[in-house]
Amino acid sequence: MSELSVNHLLGIKYLTEQDIDLIFETADHFKEVINRAIKKVPTLRDITIANIFFEDSTRTKLSFELAEKRLSADVINFSAGQSSVKKGETLIDTVNNILSMKVDMVVMRHPNPGAGIFLSRHVKAAIINAGDGAHEHPTQALLDSFSIRERLGGVAGKKVVIVGDILHSRVALSNIFALKLQGADVKVCGPRTLLPKHIESLGVGVETNLRKALEWCDVANMLRIQNERMEFSYFPTTREYSQQYGINKNLLESLDKEIVIMHPGPINRGVEITSDVADSNQSIILDQVENGVAIRMAVIYLLASKIK
Ligand code: CP
Repeated sequence: MSELSVNHLLGIKYLTEQDIDLIFETADHFKEVINRAIKKVPTLRDITIANIFFEDSTRTKLSFELAEKRLSADVINFSAGQSSVKKGETLIDTVNNILSMKVDMVVMRHPNPGAGIFLSRHVKAAIINAGDGAHEHPTQALLDSFSIRERLGGVAGKKVVIVGDILHSRVALSNIFALKLQGADVKVCGPRTLLPKHIESLGVGVETNLRKALEWCDVANMLRIQNERMEFSYFPTTREYSQQYGINKNLLESLDKEIVIMHPGPINRGVEITSDVADSNQSIILDQVENGVAIRMAVIYLLASKIK
């Protein structure tokens, strides 16, 4: 297969296993490119991309911009906080105004679940979801699986536990879809209050004891508490959360095997992960960030080749 089955990247749930294979093969090539002395290819000189962010971001925003520039696309950046959205302009009007400047593709982060899907039905451009509320963050899940494949040689058959605030996490949902599609064995672990009621229906196991989850897994993906999406408290204190669901060096070294530690960022050091774990050889957190550029180059390149 040489092209994606989709015209937009709205969520992992719309992809096939073959789509993921194609994205990874393409990202392998781009990873080699961005490690050369000349890190740029002229592939998308005729494409213009708008990055529109209605929520804060460091990794996703910068790596999309870098991926676009490495592909030689023209790039414009839009932050809602400094735009006419503050004067009442709607999402569709905002995007249609941007598109009238001859923009081909929109990368959007938005606090509302489904915002990318809504946009794809109302505007004429390829849409990439860079995170929509607590719904999906597809490029994060792709770079996470790509990083597991790189460290462990594959994803199929690997035991992956996602730890922490599953309830409010778009990273968790996209990772569950991506890992299951590739044949991984997936568990979620956290306090009951932060696990969605019917999470087992997605084909994942549930574990509330962190030690047991770590003893079981090959990979632990540690998530941040999403305080910005919480209306009230889901656990007594941060200290107690950290004691029960935070990973530290003592816990890691007490396991009878070496597991891989991941985190999508931003990290809250000392809450879900201590510095000695985040910065250890078992951590692939910065590999995930590096792979984000290659994965986003692959996604942009494959979607752009469908609109040419
Ligand atoms: N992982 C992630 O989405 O990080 P940012 O919010 O910094 O983009």
